[in-house]
Amino acid sequence: MTLHVLRDGGDDLAVVLLHGFPLDHRMWTAVAGRLTAPHRVLAADLPGAAGADADLPEPSVEAAADRVAAELAEAGVTRAVVVGLSMGGYVALALAERHAPLVAALGLVDTKSTADTADARAHRLRIADEAESTGTVDPVRGMATTLVGESTRAAQPDVTAQLAAWIDEQSPGGVAWAQRAMASRPDRTDVLAAFDGPVVVVVGDEDAVTPVAAAEHLASSARDAQLVVVPRSGHMSAVEQPGAVAAALDDLVQRAVSS
Ligand code: MLT
Repeated sequence: MTLHVLRDGGDDLAVVLLHGFPLDHRMWTAVAGRLTAPHRVLAADLPGAAGADADLPEPSVEAAADRVAAELAEAGVTRAVVVGLSMGGYVALALAERHAPLVAALGLVDTKSTADTADARAHRLRIADEAESTGTVDPVRGMATTLVGESTRAAQPDVTAQLAAWIDEQSPGGVAWAQRAMASRPDRTDVLAAFDGPVVVVVGDEDAVTPVAAAEHLASSARDAQLVVVPRSGHMSAVEQPGAVAAALDDLVQRAVSS
């Protein structure tokens, strides 16, 4: 696992960005470049991402959260605004559960707190087996077009092409690891309900994977949440509409500083 410093800044509070599947920290570059808050910005390559397929722990989002916490401790970060998109959101909630003192605020972007259905879990395990048996990322290659919304497919073909290129650079072992990790995660709605810091829930209005209804469920489960619906965006709002996501996160950082 690698933690990338996307921007240096004050040591009091860091912004930590956790990517979705099947991607890596680069999906946050455009958002990080637009954040105006004067804080250090770090983005993780979660276990198995960015082509890594060696030294992986048993697959679980808890293991991913523990590795993020260990890397942050190593980097001297003791308090962070933790932001996760989709799979990154699952890891963010595991961090809030297992490393509560670290998490000052939560940004939950195109994600959900519920566990997989039995069918979704079985599908993930099939994809994991297929990635390993073919030794390719073919089983997830098509996601470049299904993750984005209709507006992006029509008006921003460069975004779809960029996602496809990033997916191609992942490793079959890493794809399998992440699918098995996500398949085993529990429902963490209770973790969100118990979290006492500020929360922003961000969702693309065309997100077909974790739709607006899932975001409304998240926001209504938290004690202090704001809901931001991003126009003309699918599941990859941070890549499709980075300006709107950065504005929502800047606002979250302000709430964390003043709470
Ligand atoms: C993601 O974007 O991280 C994935 O859609 C998460 C998932 O498969 O649940």
